[in-house]
Order: sequence, then structure tokens, then C-alpha cells
Amino acid sequence: MSNGIIRDFKPLAGQDERRRGQRAPAIDPELALFLGRWLKAPHRIGALAPSSRYLAQAMARQVDMRQARLVVELGGGTGSITRALLAAGLAPEKLVVVERDERLHRLLAERFPGLRVLQGDATQLVALLRPLGITGASAIVSSLPLLSMPKRLRHRIVEQSFALLGERGALVQFTYGIASPLPAREFAVSGRVAARVWRNLPPAFVWRFERKAGAIARVA
Ligand SMILES: C[S@@+](CC[C@H](N)C(=O)[O-])C[C@H]1O[C@@H](n2cnc3c(N)ncnc32)[C@H](O)[C@@H]1O
Repeated sequence: MSNGIIRDFKPLAGQDERRRGQRAPAIDPELALFLGRWLKAPHRIGALAPSSRYLAQAMARQVDMRQARLVVELGGGTGSITRALLAAGLAPEKLVVVERDERLHRLLAERFPGLRVLQGDATQLVALLRPLGITGASAIVSSLPLLSMPKRLRHRIVEQSFALLGERGALVQFTYGIASPLPAREFAVSGRVAARVWRNLPPAFVWRFERKAGAIARVA
């Protein structure tokens, strides 16, 4: 574990017992919380379960930790990808996490004390970051359910992301389907599959997007 925040990472009640081989709740508390949020609002959460560590690590590998000045994570959830980014060597002061769900935001803030975790909507990303003095990012790592949200909101998030990334930064996004999470006909960005992760439920594809030189993200 590479830094204090990871060392201080707080498992949910029940996870410690499970690790020590003691009697633990029948269902992993993290999974239970995630599932509970999903049952309340499936489209807003977008997945039944947190990302596996294999998927989280594959996402983190897309960030050049030595070059990164600031990384923004969108949709922190219970912190699987946050944790992988920190464990891969990203300095905590270079990471900002955005999570819309109030309960999950509270959990993230408790689990990663000292990390900047904002409660807010990624459609307002530029305005959310401005009070922190942040006007640019080297990478944006997103697990937002882009394809299940209305097109207008998806466009707004991509537009705001590339306003921060410029032409040199990358947007990293996973998806469960074979199709691109940013349909080529909708966006003036170039994307490629950077990793396939079978050890996730369901298996996932990690995509990496960059803005095409001289283009701006199209808004339909
Ligand atoms: C598929 S879950 C991924 C959670 C976690 N990163 C993981 O990989 O396990 C998507 C997360 O994005 C959050 N989310 C969805 N729409 C959002 C939005 N517009 N702005 C910020 N967070 C959002 C959800 O609340 C949920 O926590």
C-alpha cells in the first residue's frame, strides 16, 4: 500500500471479521450497500455491484502516474477505483473524486479521510471544481453509466470533461457492452479499447478517449 490514505482505508463493518475468518454477515456489506442503492435507483447507479479489483486496476493503469498533475474520478461509488488509483501510486493531493449519491458520498469521505471527495453531479463538473481552483485535468477516470443516461446529459458530461482535459488529457471509461460508451457518430473524440477485463461481474471493456486535434466535443 503506497500511502497514508490507503493505509487508513476503512473497510465496512463486517469486512474485518470476514478477513479474520470470524463469523461475518452472509452478504458482503459493501455489496449490500451498493445493491441497496441500485435497487432504489438502478439507472442512477448503473451497476449491481462494485467493480472488481481487476477492473479497478485496469482503469488505474490508464493513468500515467508520473506525468499526472490532476486526476478526476467520476462516480466514486464505494471506492474500488479510488483505491486502485491510490494503490498504483497516485498522490492523494492529485486526485479529486465526484459522487452524486449522498449515501455513497458520505461513505467515500469516511473511507478516504484527507482525500477531496465532492458530492455533486458530473454534468456540473467545471462549476464543481472551480471553487477548488481546478480548471484542468490530466485524466478523467469515469465509471458513470453513460449509456443509460439521457443523451443530453451524456453530452454535457463529455463536453465538460474535455473542457478540462484539452487535447492532451484522456477520458478513461469502462463499459459492459461491446459498443463504445461514447458512440463515434455523437462525439468528435477518438477512442480505443485499452483493456478487456474478464474477472468482473459482468466482464468489462476499458476505453480510452482523446479529443481529436482541433475538434470540440459535439453537442447534439
Ligand atoms: C457503476 S457505479 C461505479 C462505482 C465505482 N466507481 C465502482 O467502479 O465500483 C457508478 C457510480 O456513478 C455515480 N453517478 C451516476 N451518475 C452520476 C453523475 N451524474 N454524477 C456523479 N456521480 C454519478 C453513481 O452514484 C455510482 O456510484
